[in-house]
Amino acid sequence: MRQKASGSEESAAAKPLPAVVLVVHGPNLNLLGEREPEVYGRTKLADIDRKLKELGREIGIKVETFQSNSEGAIVDRIQAARGNVHFLLINPGAYTHTSVAIRDTIVGVAVPAIEVHLSNVYKREVFRRRSTIADIVVGRIMGFGAEGYYLALRAARAAIDASHSEAN
Ligand code: DQA
Repeated sequence: MRQKASGSEESAAAKPLPAVVLVVHGPNLNLLGEREPEVYGRTKLADIDRKLKELGREIGIKVETFQSNSEGAIVDRIQAARGNVHFLLINPGAYTHTSVAIRDTIVGVAVPAIEVHLSNVYKREVFRRRSTIADIVVGRIMGFGAEGYYLALRAARAAIDASHSEAN
């Protein structure tokens, strides 16, 4: 999503149009840094959210963050995003493997989404290989720890830019 160059200005000088991205963290991710650090790393959720907002400012994205341990609260927050956000980044935590409700909500609000996991779920227990949202998201990033969220934000920026240039 780039602003049109005016007059003799070339598009290389154009700034990305501001976009809004909602980042949703599911259950137990509030314990990041303390919970199984050998699996999830030592970075705290507040640090991830702060870095996402900083990166967002650099690349022209307003980042909103939300964490809940409750499936219904996650459904409510994604519903509230309908028409208000350009992209959703979601780590549904354990709800990844069970929640039809979160899947239905993402489809229902029609907001493009990226699924993020800190760990590579395929290297772990077999039950973690199933995701109720894998086939309805734009893409999935896993196994890179906190870095995966920043990669996902950059991927969202690129997808927003691509959809905008297709529209023109
Ligand atoms: C997780 C993987 C899930 O299987 C687990 O239940 C989580 C975190 C991850 O980020 O690696 O809570 O989503």
